[in-house]
Amino acid sequence: MAGGTPARVRRSRTLLVYWEGDQVVFENYRTRVAVTADPQTLSILNFFDRWRRPDDILRHLDGYTPNSVRDALRRLVAVSLLVEEHTPEAERDARVNKIWGDWLPHAGFHFATKDLRYVGVRRGAARLRAFLARSPQPPFFKSYPRAKHVRLPPADRPEYQFLRVLTARKTHRSFSEGRLRLEDLATLLFYTWGVTGFFEVPVLGNLPHKTSPSGGARHPGEVYVVALRVQGLRPGLYHYNARRHQLEELRRGTLLEQVVQYCGAQPFVRKASAVFLMTAVFPRVMWKYRHARYYRVVLLDAGHLAQTFCLVATWLGLAPFSLGALNDSLIEKDLGLDGIGESAIYVTGVGLPRGRPAFERSSSSRRSASLPISSVASRPDQYFMNSSR
Ligand SMILES: Cc1cc2nc3c(=O)[nH]c(=O)nc-3n(C[C@H](O)[C@H](O)[C@H](O)COP(=O)(O)O)c2cc1C
Repeated sequence: MAGGTPARVRRSRTLLVYWEGDQVVFENYRTRVAVTADPQTLSILNFFDRWRRPDDILRHLDGYTPNSVRDALRRLVAVSLLVEEHTPEAERDARVNKIWGDWLPHAGFHFATKDLRYVGVRRGAARLRAFLARSPQPPFFKSYPRAKHVRLPPADRPEYQFLRVLTARKTHRSFSEGRLRLEDLATLLFYTWGVTGFFEVPVLGNLPHKTSPSGGARHPGEVYVVALRVQGLRPGLYHYNARRHQLEELRRGTLLEQVVQYCGAQPFVRKASAVFLMTAVFPRVMWKYRHARYYRVVLLDAGHLAQTFCLVATWLGLAPFSLGALNDSLIEKDLGLDGIGESAIYVTGVGLPRGRPAFERSSSSRRSASLPISSVASRPDQYFMNSSR
């Protein structure tokens, strides 16, 4: 709409209208631009439900000069409530609608909550004190004092390896110098994201099996490794090819500064050995499940993967962490993703522990640990399970 023949415009497909006090807020949850505006804006947006020329609306608005109307439309385009035909914004708008149509508007929450900057420890503490001044924390535990109580036998003591690993898991934010062994990276990847087998289901045939459950076995999760300090692996960005148990090099170079930015400016990650950028390929789930509820399933899947990752890392004597405060858009840009079909979801990472690891394997379990990896890498068909469900 800069001059010449005015381009046609239409209403963005990802709009949310709500009230804050007596103000009407118009938000494009995809672009995360929210503005307060006169309620009459709603009629304008309603009119542009399809591609129309800006002047088409003049007939429907009394008492406004053409220039003032054009100016208003220009401002609506600037705040992304309207999109102009043949622009990148219009393309993204259409693409979100094409891919996400069945899950919108409710799962639009995904776009609305991207790119959070982590609040630093000091500012975080000040905010918490302000919250406490207003109200106490909700209780962490719930009980039914008047219900009949059933005494339980004590839980098994964590003397078995599995229970020791479970109880040793914790979030690490400081690491010792040194490099992660490539074998440990491979073990982490395989037992978290690797394909441990396949199983057959009616209609769809073979579906991959992994160590974590996935709703409908759709496995939307992909993982990209930022190698910072790994023995025998050039620093850089890699995609983990789960089917082949291979790393695919996407970019070489030390990504120390970028990785901090990926993680919402949390400085401790620069000392990690490797950071795992977890994404979801939504169409894998959307194709089968055409309801916004399944957006939740995508997030739940990521949680399973991250816990598996933390446990495998703990078992390896490493120092894992998981991060929810991400600069999703930057991660997606650097991975060459459009953030619509595939988007950043979660980040995990690992370093070498400071001091003794919380869990130490016996040397015999260490020897047997590396065997399945090489077998799977060379003979994936050996791991083909044919159990039907
Ligand atoms: C979904 C999720 C997001 C998290 N995001 C962050 C984060 O951005 N930065 C961080 O330092 N820790 C993050 N954590 C780690 C938690 O702060 C940590 O799990 C919690 O303090 C409990 O400590 P523990 O893991 O040692 O039991 C996250 C954990 C989860 C489960």
